[in-house]
Amino acid sequence: MKFNPNVLDCAAAPIAEAWSWVRNPDSDRLLDLCQAVPAHLPPQDLRDYLGDAIKAGEGATYTDIRGIAPLREALAANISERYQGTVDADDILITAGCNQAFCSVIDTLCAAGDEVIVPLPCYFNHQMWLSTRGIVPRYLSFDAETAMPDPAEARGLINERTRAILLVTPNNPSGAIYTAERIGEFFALAREHGIALITDETYRDFIDIEVIPHNLFADPDWRDTLVHLYSFSKVFSLTGFRTGAVGASQALLEQLKKVQDCTAICAPHAGQLGALYGLRHLDAWKLEKADELTRRAVALREAFAHPDLRYRVVSAGAYFAYIEHPFDAPARQVVKRLIEDQEIVSLPGSYFGPEQESFIRFAFANLHERHFEDVVARLIATQTD
Ligand SMILES: Cc1ncc(COP(=O)(O)O)c(C=O)c1O
Repeated sequence: MKFNPNVLDCAAAPIAEAWSWVRNPDSDRLLDLCQAVPAHLPPQDLRDYLGDAIKAGEGATYTDIRGIAPLREALAANISERYQGTVDADDILITAGCNQAFCSVIDTLCAAGDEVIVPLPCYFNHQMWLSTRGIVPRYLSFDAETAMPDPAEARGLINERTRAILLVTPNNPSGAIYTAERIGEFFALAREHGIALITDETYRDFIDIEVIPHNLFADPDWRDTLVHLYSFSKVFSLTGFRTGAVGASQALLEQLKKVQDCTAICAPHAGQLGALYGLRHLDAWKLEKADELTRRAVALREAFAHPDLRYRVVSAGAYFAYIEHPFDAPARQVVKRLIEDQEIVSLPGSYFGPEQESFIRFAFANLHERHFEDVVARLIATQTD
């Protein structure tokens, strides 16, 4: 049989490929900085609650295409509070994870040949979905000093095929947390041109709680421009339960429901129950985990301040650090060598779009800070030639 050429041309899923380079995955010496997964299980009370609910027969049925009403209400209230804005349950549709939210939003907004503005470096699954759909990513260059994309550059790329600007903040892979002001500039640009601003905020719970991630939800007209994507995967350690959300206008969600109905019908019911429990009961747990990661980002920067180290932290936050390596070599080669010689597993920048050969991504959420000194010592050991 013949396959879709767009799928054939699409690069393989990166995490599996990086692990295929590891000869001994059970080695005690292995330091896993590869995939962005929470290093802990959900708290015991959430697991007990879900166990009891499933035994009682809950979660076994389809839900409304948009998700269960109490979860949509709870998430709307959570966003309204966190962003000091106004979001209603009708603005929310629950998805089977944030990746599915992105795919459905893209399918709702774009046809083959349309364009989406994508800052570099970009999340590989976003890139993969755009390319399998025949949608053209128009990349914004990476500024390795600020790690923030430039709205003026985006303005120059907008044309009649442009459907959306995509921002991921906190960013995967760079860990950069875009300022509310910069996000606001992109919002104004998107509004001016009648296109969508899609914000993937999978890691927003790992921003300092004192800081409002952006002010867009306070704009009474946010629904005309903003499409907000969220994930319950990292915040409540529910990656396997596949639960995320889209926050957008009812006009957009009405169309998106058609896509959702064909692909997932609804988000996994059990995942929705878990997410609702999390929103209702796990605020303190969530803050504790966010604090832990904030401390870890600081510890990573401190460890990398070692005078002999020639690897540089470009940006770090939430789950990730983006590291500039000191070699005149492709990132893939550097990562393979780190695996073979030092048993450090990371991802090459080249997985995150063009012109990223000087960088590697460390997903530090996976690794306790007590290992950072060792990481730095091993990196220094690679600098010998
Ligand atoms: C930016 C970004 N969006 C979406 C996802 C996927 O989230 P989910 O598990 O909710 O599909 C990830 C996971 O790594 C991510 O980094």
